[in-house]
Amino acid sequence: MSQALASPDPQLEYKQAAAERAIDFIQSGMKVGLGTGSTALFATRRLGELLQTGQLRDIRAFATSKATDAEARRLGIAMLSDDLSETLDVTIDGADEVDPQLNLIKGGGGALLREKIVAQASAREIIVVDASKLSPRLGTRFPVPVEVLPFAWRSQAHFLETLGARYTLRQTRDGAQFITDSGNLILDCDFGPIADAQKLADALAARAGIVEHGLFIGLATALIVAGADGIRYQTK
Ligand code: A5P
Repeated sequence: MSQALASPDPQLEYKQAAAERAIDFIQSGMKVGLGTGSTALFATRRLGELLQTGQLRDIRAFATSKATDAEARRLGIAMLSDDLSETLDVTIDGADEVDPQLNLIKGGGGALLREKIVAQASAREIIVVDASKLSPRLGTRFPVPVEVLPFAWRSQAHFLETLGARYTLRQTRDGAQFITDSGNLILDCDFGPIADAQKLADALAARAGIVEHGLFIGLATALIVAGADGIRYQTK
């Protein structure tokens, strides 16, 4: 850790510090992926500020969710077309859990499918988190979100149980089914600490009806983590 931080709302300050540090990796002319969630939002807003002041120019962005897209447009950030015909130079996104090899659980905000599409279309995927997201082993702190087609979703739930998961069908605050930007459901799957995340990811990927899962193995190229001891930058 290199820079001490102090705040009355430390976790929020850490999120902001990590996200804004990531903006240092954006240069004028780049195509930038914009993440989803409370941490990535700080990066999107800072990018908007730097474009407003002219410190960055000619940025075109692509969002990982409808919510981020709306916020970016509100900030006046120029957006790439929906078909994403170009590779992105860098994406800045958050995570729910990060292991020492920079493997991730993502999807707490429900955007895992678009987040993974954007990560795979990016030359660099910079993950920004506060220190509470660090974990010795994925599954220790956070369930794995699994996005499933509404059609026959209980069949996928049963399959997930056979893999050792205790699942919860994600709901909105008012008790309705949570529907993703792509019209699917999310099963939050508690596997406990996952012994072999790649093996689990392969099993999930092979199942029809599972659209995507929140295990991001080998996709992050760098991590920026902020905590009580300051900000740390880590690459694989
Ligand atoms: C969105 O679907 C997620 O992957 C978020 O990036 C993740 O949940 C982190 O969110 P916060 O930054 O709000 O903690």
